[in-house]
Amino acid sequence: MADVTTQLKDVLSAALVAAYGDAYANADPMLGPANNPKFGDYQANLAMKLGKQLGKPPREVAQAVVDRVEMGELIEEVEIAGPGFINLHLSARALASAAHAMLGDDRLGVPALDEPQTVVVDYSSPNVAKEMHVGHLRSTVIGDAIARVLTFQGHNVIRQNHVGDWGTQFGMLIEHLLETGQAEQESLGDLTKLYKESKKRFDAEPDFAERAKQRVVALQGGDEATLAAWKKLVSQSETYFASIYQRMGVLLEPGDIRGESFYNDKLPGVVDRLKQDGKLETSQGAGVVFVEGFSDKDGDPLPMIVQKSDGGYLYATTDLAAIRYRVDELKASRIVYVTDARQSQHFAMAFRAAEDAGWFGHASLEHVPFGTVMGEDGKPFKTRDGDVVRLVDLIDEAESRAITVCKEKNPELTGEEADHVGRVVGLGSLKYADLSSDRVKDYKFSWDRMLALDGNTAPYLINAYVRVHGIFRKGEIDFAGFTSDHVQVQEPAEKALVLKLMQFGSTVDSVADSLEPHRMCNYLYELASAFHKFFESCPVLKSDVPLEIREGRLALCKLVALTLERGLGLLGIGVVERM
Ligand code: ARG
Repeated sequence: MADVTTQLKDVLSAALVAAYGDAYANADPMLGPANNPKFGDYQANLAMKLGKQLGKPPREVAQAVVDRVEMGELIEEVEIAGPGFINLHLSARALASAAHAMLGDDRLGVPALDEPQTVVVDYSSPNVAKEMHVGHLRSTVIGDAIARVLTFQGHNVIRQNHVGDWGTQFGMLIEHLLETGQAEQESLGDLTKLYKESKKRFDAEPDFAERAKQRVVALQGGDEATLAAWKKLVSQSETYFASIYQRMGVLLEPGDIRGESFYNDKLPGVVDRLKQDGKLETSQGAGVVFVEGFSDKDGDPLPMIVQKSDGGYLYATTDLAAIRYRVDELKASRIVYVTDARQSQHFAMAFRAAEDAGWFGHASLEHVPFGTVMGEDGKPFKTRDGDVVRLVDLIDEAESRAITVCKEKNPELTGEEADHVGRVVGLGSLKYADLSSDRVKDYKFSWDRMLALDGNTAPYLINAYVRVHGIFRKGEIDFAGFTSDHVQVQEPAEKALVLKLMQFGSTVDSVADSLEPHRMCNYLYELASAFHKFFESCPVLKSDVPLEIREGRLALCKLVALTLERGLGLLGIGVVERM
């Protein structure tokens, strides 16, 4: 059965067609939950826009639609308010049966899409021999939530971890490894240290810099010893990434890695194609493409460099090759790139260049930018020494802080339990803080805020889930096995709660369309708040509550828990039954 929003939209569309003809079959009824129960449960705002189009007073349009709304099981009352808002009141019976249906469906009433697409999600994408930092945290966490939501909708999601595993910096890394004999060692040790050491030599020793450049040529030429050292570097980094992904509980697997090196042999083809298509120009010896609509600070056309004067290729060339690969080989119809907003221009130019070259037909390419993580001082988040903050250190700290809180708050938990709960809550808090803020905006990193039990935080949501399980434990009712045919929606708090529950499906859709996970966070926060209100005014286990009412309320409690669990799960966040 379609969810309530879809059913209402269908009813309104039918009324619209009956009033104004088939041309309006696809007009958006502009339906949303009403903000104030006084104005009904849902509100449709189409009459204002339509009035303008038709040159009629909006109230007249609203009336014409309302006169044709089919009043069935679902809609109890319709009225027009203000300039032409259509207010819809739903029947308690319809809401109860919708909640019942949702409870009995393991997709919580959200239908899988009829026409799934193949969607490539390019995310995380750290760099070999460089530490994963807080920017990669954002890409990993946001990208993972997007991948999960699209998968839940039924799309065929292909994760692509575009690891930075190729480029001129490998010349200095490998040269340094070989010269110091480290290349022969079983483990290469701390790669960040290696990076810093070789960079220092590269900048200070011109001879070394020259040898490092030769090393790049050797790498590209496939020299055996060079290639062996490169492989060692890459594989050690990838083992490290995998360990972080596992700790973070993200979907990324080694098989999702398709690093820059993968496209290496495809780069000459990209430049050739651009040449054939007459797009390639030469500027100061370099191969460039001028993309319409981009200019430098002097207002001159801004070129996108695809081949340096020494023949080397660039980040942009690799992304052009990746677009071709994803469209032609992976058959993607949508490709999303989750990176820092500072790469916006890069992607805008690459997309435009590929589009101009006619490389992606009907596929849609989207950059999903995110803002910078700021410290409490309002400056980009750094360690006290001004270094980038390592992702592992954040995970460690999130977990240990949550474990401490957990032990303090609930001394009844065994050490092992507290460790488990702390890990789930700590990691969840770290992810949730990132996901719940509007992604394009910068956000302030604050341990205290993300771990708070109040407010729009992971602990608040997990706590609501724990509360439901507490109710079932107290009533000695088996949560998993519980079901009920007695869902009823009578009290205002019950109705408000069920209406919130009904919005789960449309929230999933809106996250998938906008690629903004914070919409799910806001929804879950509202749901948990509606649940607390319900619980305050509608006793569940009290002895004077009639059995049928108790059962119906338990059903709502269970549905809240399942929705929280699913919603958090779509964000990559786990739950616990006690904390
Ligand atoms: N490795 C890059 C970085 O750390 C991100 C790569 C993003 N994906 C891409 N297709 N360019 O900034």
